[in-house]
Amino acid sequence: METKLTQLLNIKYPIIQAPMFLVSNVAMVTEGMKAGIAGCIPALNYRTLEQLRAAIIELKANKVEGGSFGFNLIVNKSNIKYKEQLRVLCEEGCDFIITSLGSPEETIKQAHKAGIKVFCDVTDLRFAKKVELLGADAAIAVNNEAGGHRGNLTPQELTNQLSQALTIPVISAGGVGCKADIDKMISYGAEGVSVGSPFIASVEAGVTDEYKQACVDYGEKDIIMTERISGTPCTVINTPYVQKIGTKQTWIERVLNKNKKLKKWVKMIRFSIGMKATENAAKKATYKTVWVAGPSIEHTKAILPVRDIVANLVA
Ligand SMILES: Cc1cc2nc3c(=O)[nH]c(=O)nc-3n(C[C@H](O)[C@H](O)[C@H](O)COP(=O)(O)O)c2cc1C
Repeated sequence: METKLTQLLNIKYPIIQAPMFLVSNVAMVTEGMKAGIAGCIPALNYRTLEQLRAAIIELKANKVEGGSFGFNLIVNKSNIKYKEQLRVLCEEGCDFIITSLGSPEETIKQAHKAGIKVFCDVTDLRFAKKVELLGADAAIAVNNEAGGHRGNLTPQELTNQLSQALTIPVISAGGVGCKADIDKMISYGAEGVSVGSPFIASVEAGVTDEYKQACVDYGEKDIIMTERISGTPCTVINTPYVQKIGTKQTWIERVLNKNKKLKKWVKMIRFSIGMKATENAAKKATYKTVWVAGPSIEHTKAILPVRDIVANLVA
């Protein structure tokens, strides 16, 4: 399965274990590397820079031939720690950084000086061309089957468009749960895939067994979009609790959102309440089950070690 992505990262299979807020951790990425793929953790999964530094040091020690590791940086203003996280990543070193939300210009400049590759999340051709011009090493094409904040275009539309227009490799993110899906993305022009949701139900994932089991018990038809987490539509499992609280903003939020002066504050408050609720649902036993996942959990039939999930993906 040699592609431009396997060459770029020196990995066995063209798969990135996608960064997942609250879910990804060192254990998952270490096992991913041993299985011959790349793994990525959101820098925001670490509350302090010391914890982030410790994770990088651990991953450097755990790195094996055929595997590779990186971190995800939110590069817009919502991440007040962005510059410091970038500094720590450049000081310690890692194989790659995935940027999301915002311009990757500064990250590309600093990371390249430190010998780190930069892959950028994109959802359309206009932004993909921009990141290519800025020097990105690959574009991660987030399609409308992805878990989390998904794109608008189908995997085929987006991957086709980008692979024809760009010279850098295109990695398809969203909707990959088995080998046939990987083959499909490659046939659309992708050089690899970024896979998130199928790794939530891994033994190593840092979330509750209830969340993992939900990814086994629920499937594609149970994934819906909600605005109740960050304000921006996000995919969640349609549990009875999600049904109870609804998926749209409340009428108060809608009214306040129309007020120019208050809009920014309403957004921030919604974001912080939503994040706390998701964190509680992911980390603690609670009846408030707001579990983020994408339709690719359809293929998840049991809670398995990462190495078995990778084996199933390439079988
Ligand atoms: C639970 C969850 C959390 C996520 N957190 C992040 C994140 O922190 N940063 C990011 O860039 N993408 C995040 N994503 C998106 C993934 O990196 C990836 O694009 C997506 O999972 C691909 O679709 P899939 O779930 O069908 O594999 C998240 C996705 C999920 C399911």
